[in-house]
Amino acid sequence: MTGQEPLNKKAKFLVVANRLPTDLVTHEDGTQEWKRSPGGLVTALEPILRSHHGAWIGWPGVADAEPEPFDQDGVTIIPVKLSAEEVENYYEGFSNDTLWPLYHNGIVEPQYREDWWETYKEVNQRFAEVAAETAAENGVVWVNDYQLQLVPALLREMRPDVRIGFFLHIPFPPLELFEQLPWRDEIIDGLLGSDLIGFHVPGNAINFQRLTNVRRKHRVTRGKMSCVGHCGHIEVPQKEGSPRFVKVGAFPISIDSGAFDEQAKTDEIKKHGVELRKRVGDPATLALGVDRMDYTKGIEVRLEAIYQLLQEGRLDPEKFVFVQLATPSRERVDAYKELRKRVEEKVARINGEYASVGRPVISYLHQSAPFEDLLGFYRNADVMLVTPLKDGMNLVCKEFVAASTDGNGSLVLSEFAGAARELRTAYQCNPYDIEGVKDAIMHAIEDPEEERRRRMRALRRQVLTHDVNRWAKSFLDALPEH
Ligand code: ADP
Ligand code: G6P
Repeated sequence: MTGQEPLNKKAKFLVVANRLPTDLVTHEDGTQEWKRSPGGLVTALEPILRSHHGAWIGWPGVADAEPEPFDQDGVTIIPVKLSAEEVENYYEGFSNDTLWPLYHNGIVEPQYREDWWETYKEVNQRFAEVAAETAAENGVVWVNDYQLQLVPALLREMRPDVRIGFFLHIPFPPLELFEQLPWRDEIIDGLLGSDLIGFHVPGNAINFQRLTNVRRKHRVTRGKMSCVGHCGHIEVPQKEGSPRFVKVGAFPISIDSGAFDEQAKTDEIKKHGVELRKRVGDPATLALGVDRMDYTKGIEVRLEAIYQLLQEGRLDPEKFVFVQLATPSRERVDAYKELRKRVEEKVARINGEYASVGRPVISYLHQSAPFEDLLGFYRNADVMLVTPLKDGMNLVCKEFVAASTDGNGSLVLSEFAGAARELRTAYQCNPYDIEGVKDAIMHAIEDPEEERRRRMRALRRQVLTHDVNRWAKSFLDALPEH
């Protein structure tokens, strides 16, 4: 099926994440192939694991598939099977209809269902067992994200010798919101099985520390609110003997920025970008959006802002094109179906009113874009619109900055993306303030070139010096020895 050799080695360095870096795709004629998985977690972790030659435990993206472990570019891929019912209850249900909306400030209402929770526990147990079988003695196990928050404690029970790091790739909500969760204490105790818990920004780490202090009465030692790296620790009492200390910290994730810069700089990408720009009508201003189709990303916010700017005559439909590339995501979850419908209605409305024949104002694709197209658009766009209502970090804005090798693109960035803390010279806006978003877009288009270049220079300095290797190193260096 894959032509890859089955493997069965113990791993000293193990990543555990719901998704593998690669999805098993079955074509209509029954043939199968492995394709890159969607999302920021894979973008960030894949280069790290390749350099560590470790193993990656995860779900291959389709129900009931159970391929043998295999080697891919030096990484041992260990698939975990999920049945159709588990995909529905654990992945679409508890992970993406309970935890995802709850952790993103309740933008849509989280659904609380006991049967989903039961399946979440079962699937976490399975991941923990596979990790326990795979990790070498005293190895490092790096557990990732909200789908697997029970794994650290389950794994510690089975394998007290291994060092366990947990990293949350999405925001961690304030106590007042988290406490809605009927299974809140079980989740806290699951996470506290780790030796180190990492978040993107200090505010998330502080939220977690406050929560453990208030609900579990654990003593916490806090670093400064502004800290990056190790922010403090939580003292977890044990049945016998002295307490364990769990380190908590903020580790802002990034991308392989050097690789983006190098690849975007090539003549091929330059030519391809010019060609893409021609294909959308060679407008005076090309604006770009790149996201998973997710209600957290604020795709509707930017469409509404553009619509109003066109209505007010501040944008000229003859001179402006907005390209929105949206990867399909979690398509069986109602909130995602509804979002897609609303986005598509809005695109049709704007084009219906402002496009001319053969020349849309909004060029919208509900597809995963080939990498050369992403790079070509990033390098050639005048303005990048990143307007999430809430986002743990947001890697797209960092990709845009790293690929803006001509130094003349402008970034409009929501204050509610974790990245806003680092990308200070972006045109920042509050996505709940539509006038503010419109003004940020117009400044990003109309500011003098020198000002736009100055802002982008500062952004590039930050992104090129704070890459994903630095992130991984800071996290792994903070992981305590036993
Ligand atoms: P999230 O992790 O919530 O998906 P991020 O912005 O952190 O958000 O990461 C998204 C990743 O998915 C980026 O690496 C980006 O390049 C990729 N991506 C997003 N939209 C598309 C698209 N339409 N086509 C191809 N890749 C995409
Ligand atoms: C975000 C999450 C990841 C997830 C990715 C794609 O980056 O933090 O855990 O893998 O989105 O979402 P999906 O549901 O397709 O795995």
